[in-house]
Amino acid sequence: MNSQHADVENTTPVFEPGSTPERYTITSALPYANGPVHIGHLAGVYVPADIYARYLRSRGRDVIFIGGSDEHGVPITIQARKRHTTPQAIVDQYHALIKDSFEKFGISFDIYSRTSTRIHAQTASAFFKTLYDKGCFIEKTSLQYYDEENHQFLADRYITGTCPHCHSEGAYGDQCEKCGSALSPDELIDPRSTISGNRPVKKETKHWYLPLDRYEDFLRKWILEGHKDDWKTNVYGQCKSWIDQGLLPRAVTRDLDWGVPLPLPDTEGKVLYVWFDAPIGYISATKELKPDAWEKYWKDKKTKLVHFIGKDNIVFHCIIFPCMLKAEGSYVLPDNVPANEFLNLEGEKISTSKNWAVWLHEYLEDFPGKQDVLRYVLTANAPETKDNDFTWKDFQARNNNELLAVFGNFVNRTVVLTHKYFEGKVPEVPDPAFTETDREYLREMCAYPEKIAASLEAYRFREGLNELMNLARLGNKYLTDNEPWKLFKSDPERVKVILNLSLQIAAHLAVLCEPFLPFTAKKLCGILDLPKLPWDEATRTCLLEGGHPLNPAEFLFEKIEDEAIQKQMDKLEEAKKANRMQATPRYEPQKASVNFEDFGKMDLRVARITAAEKVAKTKKLLKLTLETGLDTRTVVSGIAECYTPEEVIGKKVCLLANLEPKELKGILSHGMILMSENPDGKLCFVEPSPEAEVGMQIR
Ligand code: MF3
Ligand code: ZN
Repeated sequence: MNSQHADVENTTPVFEPGSTPERYTITSALPYANGPVHIGHLAGVYVPADIYARYLRSRGRDVIFIGGSDEHGVPITIQARKRHTTPQAIVDQYHALIKDSFEKFGISFDIYSRTSTRIHAQTASAFFKTLYDKGCFIEKTSLQYYDEENHQFLADRYITGTCPHCHSEGAYGDQCEKCGSALSPDELIDPRSTISGNRPVKKETKHWYLPLDRYEDFLRKWILEGHKDDWKTNVYGQCKSWIDQGLLPRAVTRDLDWGVPLPLPDTEGKVLYVWFDAPIGYISATKELKPDAWEKYWKDKKTKLVHFIGKDNIVFHCIIFPCMLKAEGSYVLPDNVPANEFLNLEGEKISTSKNWAVWLHEYLEDFPGKQDVLRYVLTANAPETKDNDFTWKDFQARNNNELLAVFGNFVNRTVVLTHKYFEGKVPEVPDPAFTETDREYLREMCAYPEKIAASLEAYRFREGLNELMNLARLGNKYLTDNEPWKLFKSDPERVKVILNLSLQIAAHLAVLCEPFLPFTAKKLCGILDLPKLPWDEATRTCLLEGGHPLNPAEFLFEKIEDEAIQKQMDKLEEAKKANRMQATPRYEPQKASVNFEDFGKMDLRVARITAAEKVAKTKKLLKLTLETGLDTRTVVSGIAECYTPEEVIGKKVCLLANLEPKELKGILSHGMILMSENPDGKLCFVEPSPEAEVGMQIR
């Protein structure tokens, strides 16, 4: 037992909220490298983080934007076992896929690293060692579940059982996915090993715990008092409830053979808990990116540290990691953790295991060149304050009615008319030619950089995007109100003014849309032959001088047709079908054996249905007339829920002819037709092949 009390009142450099940062360290949650990235990840984490990073760069701020793959943890080892391969092979595959798709999607990481690197192992174990040497951990030996067949302790997802809170089955040792409760393996009812299905035994093992309870005062002061007003209410609320419930010591080590090994003697087979090492991955990646200058991004109190995450990561980034940083003593704490809620897909929770998702790498293939459409839709509909829904219809509508009809259309009309009337050169306009109304427009235009900035600085990305679209709407309205196409004959001088002003709006759009729609910004700059200008330039009125030649017009957006949307809907329908198949209960086990004599007693024949009618007042029964080759007879059959009388007339069927006659609803039935039945109760005929003749025996 290591009883030395860690000093939690240390010299942690703290960024003063609201002061002007000298630099920004922006992190985005490291996705687990055991599956591809989907729209939920994008909307919750990567798109807002990217907008923020691009915006700050555009303002000339010193920014590093960190990403990487989270390559440890139990789910990865379980998947490796299932696929008869190694965890390293799994993470290599997905790391490459994820990195590549982020890049193609325009997520502008300064580095996309991974946690299986050497530098990370060194950084994480040194961090652990520092805390260990400072006496920040409690060592505790306890009884933990163990799978005797596989000789393995059962941490986290290696153990499953019934949730003590919602009583659903299949809850894991760390969490119940049904009700969201955080669990420890001891709380599970009827625990089982997920490797073998066996009932586990308990065995002694030693682990290291971070005593979060000792940090309560610090957390209360830092979060509950210090960030009451600037953290999002969903984030603040979760933190408050965790702190109020009372924090417990939390194990930061595991008995596993995949992870960062413990840097202590005689601890073979023990690694750092994935949630201990993963956030340190932000630091390792910074070291990799800036070997000589990384420290100022983490240890200078003029650095503003911001973590972009999804809501399931709040406790780790707001409570546990900050306690680790605090315990270490030389690192800054996050100034903000703008966690988002979840994005659903067509009304249902996104699920990797059920393949209910839109995968980024598939989107990039299905919609080449349309990165910005997805970025737009995910931002316009971001789950910032509550869970939100992505639907393909909305995706189509936002492209066709907003991006194309408002933004694209405005730019296109402006550029096309400039080519048509003024040989593609920005018309020269003497200042007095602008009317008072024109000046109003120009003033309004120049207010947008600040308006959008205010939204982005407050992490209100939807609002920022909506303001950007308002600038495009302003341009559209100006064109529509002034109708230059009607004026050119009578008043070409006025048309010069109108197009000059419209082109200035287009140029402002090019600057201000870059964080949100980087591909569009590039294209628009190309059309306007405008270099990439910094944000603050857009507070100036004139970005395009008179006489400046434009490039040919190009469409910024294309209409998305129904067929493309239908294809995506069909894909989802496929996933649903596959799930239903998987979800259907197994077929019944085989019945006890019968001898040949028993089988031989059955007289099975090919017969034909020649007439059929519903039996009155029943749901299930059809009265059938059958030609059997021996006679014409009546059989009552319980198939009316699956077949209409019209459907069955003329069908050849297999008949058990010598079943004892039985009266059903007053009709005497002479035999039974063979049907196959699936687990949902759906019936299908067992049809003899076409060459089998009525009357033939079946044996
Ligand atoms: N892999 C985690 C998840 O997908 C996130 C890890 S964030 C980090 O939920 F900070 F730990 F890296
Ligand atoms: Zn539960």
